[in-house]
Amino acid sequence: MSNRITINADVTKGTINRNIYSHFAEHLGRCIYEGIWVGEDSPIPNTNGVRNDVLAALKQLNIPVLRWPGGCFADDYHWMDGIGPREERPRMINNHWGGVIENNHFGTHEFLMLCEMLGAEPYIAGNVGSGTVKEMKDWVEYMTFAGESPMADLRRKNGREKPWSLPYFGVGNENWGCGGNMRPEYYSDLYRHYGSYVRNYDGNKVYKIACGANDYNVQWTEVMMRESGRHMDGLSLHYYVVPGTWADKGSATDFTDREWFVTMQKALKMDEIIAMHSTIMDRYDPEKRVGLVVDEWGTWYNVEPGTNPGFLYQQNTQRDALVASSTLDIFHRHCDRVQMANIAQTVNVLQAMVLTEGDRMILTPTYHVFDMYKVHQGASLLDMQLQSDTYEMDGESIPQISATASRQADGTIHIGLTNFSHVKEAVIPVEFRGIGQPGTVSGTILATSAANAHNTFDQPNAVAPASFQGFQLAEGVLTATLPPMSVVVLEVKA
Ligand code: AHR
Repeated sequence: MSNRITINADVTKGTINRNIYSHFAEHLGRCIYEGIWVGEDSPIPNTNGVRNDVLAALKQLNIPVLRWPGGCFADDYHWMDGIGPREERPRMINNHWGGVIENNHFGTHEFLMLCEMLGAEPYIAGNVGSGTVKEMKDWVEYMTFAGESPMADLRRKNGREKPWSLPYFGVGNENWGCGGNMRPEYYSDLYRHYGSYVRNYDGNKVYKIACGANDYNVQWTEVMMRESGRHMDGLSLHYYVVPGTWADKGSATDFTDREWFVTMQKALKMDEIIAMHSTIMDRYDPEKRVGLVVDEWGTWYNVEPGTNPGFLYQQNTQRDALVASSTLDIFHRHCDRVQMANIAQTVNVLQAMVLTEGDRMILTPTYHVFDMYKVHQGASLLDMQLQSDTYEMDGESIPQISATASRQADGTIHIGLTNFSHVKEAVIPVEFRGIGQPGTVSGTILATSAANAHNTFDQPNAVAPASFQGFQLAEGVLTATLPPMSVVVLEVKA
């Protein structure tokens, strides 16, 4: 077989919700502290305590939504610890992540300020596992109520007159695991109970997200949709790509060809996982009112040698770039159901956008994919037929290429192409139907010669996007030739 793509440019399959390009920042390792928040008195240049370099890099990505404060941390977090004068906030232990001291200097006001600085919408995960209904009710009132009430008055006393807008609220996190080890039947009732007190004040409309399943746990989705589907706006889903086992996940940078292949194979499983949960959701919600919110996804490897195992700090290579591009392609294909996705996690944790060391910062290959792919945010997904060669190893095979195409409001078409093969280039003829001849074409490529190529503080641009010249336009067919292990975004103007 050979590669071939046909794009039916006059047939759209829906809108790619820009929230698919969202992020997740937890009180975990050096994500919030050091990675984002350094405090106003830090020698690291900052704006109101948020480091300037990271802020500028993240702003460039047009982050639609930022999820916080966890993760597992969410069901251990008591929001009242994180308001008021910082020096008076209680110090506590971060039980889940490394047992380190959490000084609560980054709390509700700081997070919502960060969202305003980024131009991102906040998505707060509430505490069901160890918090009370009243605590959750009060938090929403504190943030969003304009009138006179104990919580709104407390917010004003703490320096914020106007309420914030709070578009997204999660009722717990992984309540099947770190969030309370609950059965779906039990959590479903708790969801209905807690969720009833997540109120809409003063025109603020909260999109309520129920804790959803981990990867293949369709039983959880079945119970949640059957018992609570009509009470929720979104249902979450978590899936991590772990090349090895949970006990030995594999190194982020020192891996074999086989591990490369398995990583791609596992990344592609996201398609099947979404399809399984969507099938159940379709049965209870054929109108697709409830969104599937993949609010944790990405690669998970062994931590970098010598770092705190509870900090989940890992390097990020070209392999991660291809996991990102192909996963975003999958989200596009499921844009009728997937309404948001939040890669884990923004800075210094798991499949991060940026890594920091003291006052230095580097952009990761994953960052570059998010930057290249942001042209798809909010665009119309185009119908496409994809015929792919196979990429084979040890008697197993996956498609050699992944692809997606979308059209912006002004008619510009963007095509994302990924070549998974670690040895073979991919020649991909792209044919267009429904438009005349493609006019001007340009492209950007992220490619490296080594599978484990990555950026370091000494070589921050070892992996960086470049202008892509490897295409030809002849008789209306655009043929792109991708080197092994590369991601390309083509821009086609009529
Ligand atoms: O992202 C790291 C952790 O993974 C989160 O805290 C938890 O929700 C998941 O298990």
